[in-house]
Amino acid sequence: MAERCLGDATQLVERGLALRFTVTDSKGNERKAFALRFGGRVYAYINECAHIPIELDFNPGDVLDLSREYLVCSTHGAYYLPQTGLCVGGPCPGRRLEPLPVSEHDEQLWLQEGLYR
Ligand code: FES
Repeated sequence: MAERCLGDATQLVERGLALRFTVTDSKGNERKAFALRFGGRVYAYINECAHIPIELDFNPGDVLDLSREYLVCSTHGAYYLPQTGLCVGGPCPGRRLEPLPVSEHDEQLWLQEGLYR
């Protein structure tokens, strides 16, 4: 399994701005993605709202709501659990963000390539 280094993991501060990056999906399409630290862990998702597949963040990397408890879409206000990507409020409850497999080691953030659609 190939890993791709996404950068310095220490730049992801708890509930801070997300790191934006791109992935190429199994169909060869380049897709935007983000990773953020929440509860001490790093989570990553394709940056496409489950309501309409557009980016969550209006200001780059600013994917959390004012309480810093939920991911929020800046377009119509869908709320997602940062740990699972499950939508819990707004126009698409029950739907999910598409997760990406990431891990931290050697103070770097790594994406496990080939383990997503
Ligand atoms: S596009 Fe995200 S809530 Fe509508």
